[in-house]
Amino acid sequence: MEGGGSGGRAAAVVPARMTTLSRHYFGGSASERHHDLRVDIVENIQEDYGMFVWPCSVILAEYVWQHRSRFSASRVVELGAGTSLPGLVAAKVGADVTLTDIAQNAEVLNNIRSICALNDANCTVSGLTWGDWDESVFDLHPDIILGADVLYDSANFDDLFATVTFLLENSSGAVFITTYHNRSGHHLIEFLMVKWGLKCLKLLDGFSFLPPCKAALLQGNIQLVEIALDKEKHK
Ligand SMILES: C[S@@+](CC[C@H](N)C(=O)[O-])C[C@H]1O[C@@H](n2cnc3c(N)ncnc32)[C@H](O)[C@@H]1O
Repeated sequence: MEGGGSGGRAAAVVPARMTTLSRHYFGGSASERHHDLRVDIVENIQEDYGMFVWPCSVILAEYVWQHRSRFSASRVVELGAGTSLPGLVAAKVGADVTLTDIAQNAEVLNNIRSICALNDANCTVSGLTWGDWDESVFDLHPDIILGADVLYDSANFDDLFATVTFLLENSSGAVFITTYHNRSGHHLIEFLMVKWGLKCLKLLDGFSFLPPCKAALLQGNIQLVEIALDKEKHK
């Protein structure tokens, strides 16, 4: 979850609660001047993890933008959405999007609602704590599950993968696309995939597809992986 700035950011500071408005540009030259999509995000750097745009989110949002034709008619659920940049891009390119974060974290969920209104994005916002089985989870049938920087606390890995595996089973052909800081090689993801009966469809260096103007603002070794059910193990 290391920091290091985020892509295309132009902040206007409102001092009272260290609230900032960051602007994220997509398409064209991904710059303030020449872009096809702008998403504005309200952040609060003194608050919760979910109130800040983490670098993994910038990379996943760019991936959604570059694969927008795939997202345009899909049902998307974002887990641990925080400030929800990838999910918002998906909504702006036509996906039916549900943005989720810890059910008890009203501040993060309310901030997501404000961000949706700010960007005129018609998303469903819902509490979803990994490993909890509230009724609403059973109604989700996503084609694509998104998660940016949701693999940062090993205490939560099994709860996260329990939820991801349930959603993949609940929606035939669904995939989980996640970006994470790669600290110990691919081993962690490999271990979790084997444990939960999942398989890797695609593994990318997060910087390999990022426009240079965004890459220049980010640090770290961030990977993107697409994961699906291993049907051999879920018969
Ligand atoms: C590092 S932040 C990433 C936020 C956002 N995806 C991004 O990359 O900017 C991790 C997010 O996961 C959420 N989260 C942590 N534990 C969770 C849990 N048990 N269930 C659901 N969400 C959780 C946090 O509230 C936070 O929004």
